[in-house]
Amino acid sequence: MKLSEIEQLIHPLMQNYIAAREKMIDSEIPIINQIHKYVQAQKGKQLRPMLTLLTACCCGLTVDANPNHPIFKSAAAIETLHTSTLIHDDVIDESELRRGIASVNKLWNNKTAVLIGDFYLAQVMKTINDIDNKQLTQTINDAVIQMSEGELLQMQQCGKYTTEADIYFQIITRKTAILIATCCKTGALLAGADKNICEAALQFGTDLGIAFQIRDDIIDFLPSQQTGKPQGNDIYENKCTLPMILALKDTETYNAIFPILSKEKKDRHNIDFIINIITNNGFIEKAKQILYQKLDNAINDLNKLPDNIYRHALCKTVSFLKDF
Ligand code: IPE
Ligand code: IPE
Ligand code: MG
Ligand code: MG
Repeated sequence: MKLSEIEQLIHPLMQNYIAAREKMIDSEIPIINQIHKYVQAQKGKQLRPMLTLLTACCCGLTVDANPNHPIFKSAAAIETLHTSTLIHDDVIDESELRRGIASVNKLWNNKTAVLIGDFYLAQVMKTINDIDNKQLTQTINDAVIQMSEGELLQMQQCGKYTTEADIYFQIITRKTAILIATCCKTGALLAGADKNICEAALQFGTDLGIAFQIRDDIIDFLPSQQTGKPQGNDIYENKCTLPMILALKDTETYNAIFPILSKEKKDRHNIDFIINIITNNGFIEKAKQILYQKLDNAINDLNKLPDNIYRHALCKTVSFLKDF
């Protein structure tokens, strides 16, 4: 099942979201519009707005909803928040490739990327404030805070090679899962669901988000032609992600890769060497098994949401994350 097939189910709603997103960024400053046009040309999977709208439909929003319904501006704000964090993330990760094209920091420079990311974030907060729903504002604010915490914790942990997964899960919950959870909670909240359903949606999004980042950390080991991102960038940045944690638990693998991991600057040859050892010794497969467990958790969480075709579509979205 492809994401585009799931999208068909909520196509009119996605159109309303796109219209809201296109209205969000418009500035008198030419460089902002120039960068915005560049960024918008490669849209990415649009997973977050899809989850927001699917959860909303699961909780009672109808596909003929009024285009002025706050759900559309909210979905636009969440996707723009995601874009803002990607632009900042590529500065932090010194990454030159995003969605198959040069990152903003590569094509312009770090300063420009930091400032445009801030501009996007400011537009997000304005959009959310204008909706004037206290619970929504709190949810989005919490997400922004936790994402910043996650990125800072990750930065502090760089170069600390460990066999304990505890801090890894703290990092990925904050930097990635919280935003995906926010999508699902926002959908439920704005569809008028009660507190228990909103909590169930939040739990579903959290488990899905944890799985999503594990999958992304596996994707880091795949060729960039396939992923649109630099292969092995996490290794280059000294990040100890799940495949690495699993590999370091094995003494033989530890002895083979640790001397290279502890080099401060790794060249292409070093990175390819580590990728090959981790992949060829079954640690990507082991990480996939943990990914599948987390996806099962997300599927179980769905039982607490109303049973309808949209819940089924959410279930299909979970299955999509099994494919590479
Ligand atoms: C990338 O997210 C950043 C992570 C949280 C892993 P996506 O994989 O959803 O990025 P796009 O929007 O589809 O490019
Ligand atoms: C997710 O982590 C980044 C954010 C939550 C912004 P990564 O650094 O692994 O994401 P990619 O791989 O660059 O997309
Ligand atoms: Mg990154
Ligand atoms: Mg990554």
